[in-house]
Amino acid sequence: MSKFKELFGDEGDIRVYFAPGRVNMIGEHTDYNGGHVFPCALTIGTYGVVRKRADEKLRFYSMNFEQLGIIESSLSDLKPDPAADWTNYPKGMIWAFGEKGMKIMEGMDLLLFGNIPNGSGLSSSASVEVLTGYILKDLYGCDVTNQDIALIGQFSENKFNGVNCGIMDQFAIAMGKKGHAIFLDTATLEYSYAPIELKDAKIVISCSNKKRGLGDSKYNERRAECEKALEELQQFVGIDSLGDLNEEEFEKYKNAIRDEDRVKRARHAVYENQRTIHAVEALKNNDVEKFGKLMNESHVSLRDDYEVTGIELDTLAEEAWKVEGVIGSRMTGAGFGGCSVSIVKDDAVERFIAQVGKAYEEKIGYAADFYVVEIGDGPVRLA
Ligand code: GLA
Repeated sequence: MSKFKELFGDEGDIRVYFAPGRVNMIGEHTDYNGGHVFPCALTIGTYGVVRKRADEKLRFYSMNFEQLGIIESSLSDLKPDPAADWTNYPKGMIWAFGEKGMKIMEGMDLLLFGNIPNGSGLSSSASVEVLTGYILKDLYGCDVTNQDIALIGQFSENKFNGVNCGIMDQFAIAMGKKGHAIFLDTATLEYSYAPIELKDAKIVISCSNKKRGLGDSKYNERRAECEKALEELQQFVGIDSLGDLNEEEFEKYKNAIRDEDRVKRARHAVYENQRTIHAVEALKNNDVEKFGKLMNESHVSLRDDYEVTGIELDTLAEEAWKVEGVIGSRMTGAGFGGCSVSIVKDDAVERFIAQVGKAYEEKIGYAADFYVVEIGDGPVRLA
């Protein structure tokens, strides 16, 4: 708040909002394949201090990128611009609201502060998108639900920022609920909340600190491979998405796919979707051990079939599996860097961090970071 006042002055209606980051427990690269996901919102996220302006100016400042200073733009110039850096996310949302018939007529001064580790794969960008959407709902009076904000967030990411992401991140953030993960069917957007009661265990995030580079283009490449595999399958079986197949059906029809890499990609999408359904069942039956085993299998499939892990995430997961008291561990998010998620018994957390941290640094040459996280609510106005 004081930084906002220092930069933008202290007059007028200044409000404070928060939107969380997210972690996906299981169901990776299934959301653009009509499958299920099981993410949850975190208590870490992005804080926004904001005031409406009377003119069309947009002034943005991030305390995480202070060297960039104030980045200015205007409502009459809502185009993606590499020089606009992170402000392409709030700009994209303002643009997307306009595309959906809610043209924003007054500018804003917006200061952000995020405590999601940068580039960690905990969806700091979706957090900024949902935060902006929530500001447009609450401060600008746009008539949208939180689910609408998620969909508009995905639309802006796809069309404004050029990443063909699915709905998972924005949905997990906009619809987050304390202590619960969201079991979402991405084909229908039907969802339910499942309590995560780990009793004597914690969720630990291990951040690889690998700089992501080609991630976005590889992401779009995987998506295209799955689309092609689906087209090939559709010549033989009436399905709308890979999520419509179970394991047996996939094995029966997989010869329709005429490329070995595409068979692997599609196999991951089909099996991962089924794993996610089984994992949520296991959790309902209080079988956390089984849930953990399915998390491990998810990682293996992302490593061998989907090929989105890389040595950093493989080291984090494989070293975690060796630690006594680890119930399950896998990469989470898009992959190609970012972080892993592990369920670790309370009394093993310290050992886990020491052991995995040491092995990681020895093998990779730089340190990983570890965070014990809590599951939090969706976006909220704080002041
Ligand atoms: C990124 C995307 C999501 C999802 C995951 C992989 O986080 O934004 O839509 O596809 O990757 O599961």
